[in-house]
Amino acid sequence: MNKSIIGLQWGDEGKGKIVDFLSKQFDLVVRYQGGNNAGHTVIVDDVTYKLNLIPSGAIRGKSCFLGQGVILDPEHFINELNSFKRKIPNPVIYLSSNISLILDYHKKLDKINESILIGESKIGTTAKGIGPAYQDKIGRKSIKLHDLGNEKNIEDKLHNIKEFYDPILLKFGEEPVNIQANKSFLSKIYEDISGLIVDNNFINENFNNKNILFEGAQGALLDLDHGSYPFVTSSNTISTYIPIGSSINSSFETLGIFKAYATRVGNGPFPTELNNSIGNYMAEKGFEYGTVTKRKRRCGWLDLVSLKYSCKINNVKELCITKVDVLNELDQIKICKSYEGKLFNEINFSDSSILDKLKLNEEDFVIFEKWGDLSFLKSMEDMPLQLKKFINFIEDYLEIPINLISFGPDRKETIVK
Ligand code: GDP
Ligand code: IMO
Ligand code: MG
Repeated sequence: MNKSIIGLQWGDEGKGKIVDFLSKQFDLVVRYQGGNNAGHTVIVDDVTYKLNLIPSGAIRGKSCFLGQGVILDPEHFINELNSFKRKIPNPVIYLSSNISLILDYHKKLDKINESILIGESKIGTTAKGIGPAYQDKIGRKSIKLHDLGNEKNIEDKLHNIKEFYDPILLKFGEEPVNIQANKSFLSKIYEDISGLIVDNNFINENFNNKNILFEGAQGALLDLDHGSYPFVTSSNTISTYIPIGSSINSSFETLGIFKAYATRVGNGPFPTELNNSIGNYMAEKGFEYGTVTKRKRRCGWLDLVSLKYSCKINNVKELCITKVDVLNELDQIKICKSYEGKLFNEINFSDSSILDKLKLNEEDFVIFEKWGDLSFLKSMEDMPLQLKKFINFIEDYLEIPINLISFGPDRKETIVK
């Protein structure tokens, strides 16, 4: 059976850790959207892997595929692959020939975009060129992997790109698009990665009747269409995008993953945010610093209202909760169960102006007591009663079982129910 691992919050739920943990049972691990805005940290026996584009299944030596929904910064990919090879020598990575590329002008345009937004309206992107590169894909200007090796095609595309973007780049003091430099760069890239490029139909042709694990990037609340627009990423992060982003014609079941609290990097509404000592405590104990941009993540209480919405839009069948250990020492742990008394089906989660105005009150929260140290945990039987109550409440509210519990960053610190 194929499975997808989808983040249900604003990213950084621990997808990388759980994909690595589960990948043992799968033949192929697939990324189907996003780019190197993703940062997935996996720790195995004291070795730390920081991955942006390489699927986390590569750590166990699983075959990996990046589908056409991924947006690829080729320079970043090659550097990441080279440094990964110093730890795991022979990763098996395939790239769909339909993948669109992020090039230097996309990163400049990302910065320009952010620079013209004022104050609270800044998105706080990762500045990796993600939005402008997806814009080019939709705008039919992308240079794709299948263009590499076809000099005429690349030259024609770069000519149009230059005509279109030079006025903006020059207006903001950036260098214009350099056709020759981009051509040379792309021909060098082609030498380096041509052996990894495969037909877009790769999975259907080679992994039919095999077990495939799909690794989501970002989170459902950052989805371009379903998230808090415009404070979203530029791809569809939810499970329904998998068939397009990976080009598969077989089905899968979705495991939704969430932290025992909530975090968000960058701007945008965050109804349960804690701008106080508890939020700071979560950030320090949970080491909530972005893998990609090193920014401190905003922290707050677990929000079941948005989580229920995320479960619905992703058709989640089972859940994984991570980072329960981060809350160990707190005397009181809260969960948000309503927004000013309203439930998930009364809220438009893609309208940031509604979410921004929310003022949650005491009745919107349920309180749980401290559960203490978890370092001794081996199975569900050892679990402290207070943590069991916390987990049971979430399962009852969401009407979905929590089958995996993560209580530390290492692969070993995971319990299967
Ligand atoms: P992803 O983007 O969803 O893969 O998540 P990130 O890797 O960006 O962020 C999750 C962070 O929490 C990483 O530093 C993980 O090593 C760490 N982590 C994952 N699960 C747990 C857990 O259960 N407890 C603790 N303390 N850390 C965890
Ligand atoms: P993983 O896979 C957390 C956020 C950025 C910004 C918004 C748009 O590690 O969970 P972008 O550069 O994508 O145009 O930025 O999305 N963002 C993430 N936040 N985890 C991520 O990925 C993210 N990828 C993008 O901070 O708010
Ligand atoms: Mg991350």
